[in-house]
Amino acid sequence: MVNLITVVGAGNVGATTAQRVAEKELARRVVMVDVVEGVPQGKGLDQWQSAPIEGFDSRIIGANGYDETAGSDIVIITAGIARKPGMSRDDLLNTNAGIVKQVSEQIARTSPNAIIIVVSNPLDVMCYVAKKVTGFPRERVIGMAGVLDTARYRAFLAEALDVSVRDIQAMVLGGHGDTMVPLISYTTVSGIPVTQLLDRKTLDEIVDRTRNGGAEIVKYLKTGSAYYAPSSGAVQMAEAIVFDQKRVLPCAAWLQGEYGMSDIFLGVPVKLGRGGVEKVLEVELTPKERVDLGKSAEAVREPISKLTI
Ligand code: APR
Repeated sequence: MVNLITVVGAGNVGATTAQRVAEKELARRVVMVDVVEGVPQGKGLDQWQSAPIEGFDSRIIGANGYDETAGSDIVIITAGIARKPGMSRDDLLNTNAGIVKQVSEQIARTSPNAIIIVVSNPLDVMCYVAKKVTGFPRERVIGMAGVLDTARYRAFLAEALDVSVRDIQAMVLGGHGDTMVPLISYTTVSGIPVTQLLDRKTLDEIVDRTRNGGAEIVKYLKTGSAYYAPSSGAVQMAEAIVFDQKRVLPCAAWLQGEYGMSDIFLGVPVKLGRGGVEKVLEVELTPKERVDLGKSAEAVREPISKLTI
């Protein structure tokens, strides 16, 4: 357990994340920060009152400022506006960039040693903003996307195969958008290559559904975007850090030459432990996967050039 985890944004993703963090007792204190007066305080109080029933002792509170968050070990940024039907993640670009910039300034000031997990979209660009504004080293600014995209991919595969989700090992790399790269070549069912169990057409359909996994939910919800699986993803990363688990998870990391790319956040396999990103793992890719990863990187660089902050 660490001393303090802050969740910025007390909306759907933020509040669900804070509740999961508390239920897992990842920190002694959990602070949820939001700009809307009363909402983080009210949700925090409600969550704290679930503690005797759920049986956790993490003290959870809400706040509108950063005084209560000072000295956070981990800060999870979920602040921003969510996607509405028909909106791409890039449509959120400058609104959320302004929000993440303001949040990052506050974190750098009050929690200079924190590890930041970014969830706000467009994810890879928001990671860039957080890193640029805080000046934190790459070990301490990480984006949550690959874990979510991989969870969606694994869920769809488990459904198609009628097997336990636990037995699907997979990895989705690249940017968190339509260009993400699910690695069929590294997808196994308890070690059995998935290509031996599903035909190409079914696999391609699952890859396609994974790429549109977020949009499928936005279409149903109409007024917001996914939050149960995104919060699970962020909490899995926080857990790996808190307990120094050395988990190998696909996360958005600042590349410095890996995969032939530099100065860009992109989803790649990383080792997550108490130091944050302790290693970026470079795995062999098929020529097509390499080309697809390059295209995904282009799709991440393009909106960065449109940033007005
Ligand atoms: N500081 C703190 N909180 C802020 C700020 C800010 N500067 N600006 C906005 N917020 C808060 C809003 O008040 C709101 O409570 O962020 C919260 C966002 O919550 P929702 O609208 O419910 O959105 P949510 O579904 O939680 O998604 C948040 O995560 O997955 C991504 O694409 C999603 O970028 C979006 C983010």
